[in-house]
Amino acid sequence: MTPTARSSSEEFRSGQTTLTGATVLVIGGAKNLGLAIARRASELGADVVIGARDLDTARRAAADIPGATGIRIDVTDEQTVEAAVAELGAVDHIVTTAAAHHNVPVAELDHQSVVTAFDAKVIGPLMLAKHFGPIIAPTGSMVLFSGVAAWHPQPGLSIMGITNGAVAFTVSHLAAELAPIRVNAVSPGIIDSGTWDGLPDADRSALFADTAQTNLAGRVGRPDDIVDAVAWLLTAGFVSGETIHVEGGARSV
Ligand SMILES: NC(=O)c1ccc[n+]([C@@H]2O[C@H](COP(=O)([O-])OP(=O)(O)OC[C@H]3O[C@@H](n4cnc5c(N)ncnc54)[C@H](OP(=O)(O)O)[C@@H]3O)[C@@H](O)[C@H]2O)c1
Repeated sequence: MTPTARSSSEEFRSGQTTLTGATVLVIGGAKNLGLAIARRASELGADVVIGARDLDTARRAAADIPGATGIRIDVTDEQTVEAAVAELGAVDHIVTTAAAHHNVPVAELDHQSVVTAFDAKVIGPLMLAKHFGPIIAPTGSMVLFSGVAAWHPQPGLSIMGITNGAVAFTVSHLAAELAPIRVNAVSPGIIDSGTWDGLPDADRSALFADTAQTNLAGRVGRPDDIVDAVAWLLTAGFVSGETIHVEGGARSV
């Protein structure tokens, strides 16, 4: 066992499962699930850095979280990833919620939009691992975002499903390569995160009603359902390479 791996398990045994003193970078942290994760990480004692494609957006979100800072980072733009590494110097945990959905039937696929979807969910996190790997603490971790669509093939949602499915393989491979840094994913079901607020009321209500009828929990997900899982993963020192399904049992229905 390497000294770094030993220190990680000792930290777990000693019950130091808060994030006190840890630097947590939340990419996509300016809104919805990312913002909720950033708030919880701060409540657990972390120094939070909000990453967003627009620096002002990142800084505005950070201003509402005690001690947080903002940084410009676009996971599809490797130069911004390298610049963020140079600016931050060291981090303990990275969470990325970045997504670029392309929900159309296969007959209508646009090549560049498919590439962008993979860029946000898979290639971008690979570039995060490439550049941040050397500056993530050995006891630290990465958390990526998958999604239930991967396990529920449906016409018109192939790219969402395939990219989210690829995230599950991405974390198992990155976990092997970055060890002892842990790499995991959360796979949400339908969550009332704010991301659906742009839908017409009737469509959103129908989506949420259908969600409640097609999972075991009988309800739509809440942001805290996801935040609880991420907070646990950040401190679960014996969990790596896993995709944690937080979807009310939707795959079982
Ligand atoms: N909410 C759900 O029901 C649900 C269900 C299944 C899976 N998920 C997954 O869970 C994650 C979070 O969900 P959410 O509801 O919070 O999603 P969201 O509202 O779409 O938020 C995604 C965040 O990622 C940022 N982002 C997009 N592309 C980026 C890039 N290239 N570089 C950096 N940041 C980028 C967005 O910032 P901008 O403002 O710049 O666009 C936004 O802050 C997503 O990956 C989503 O696919 C969500």
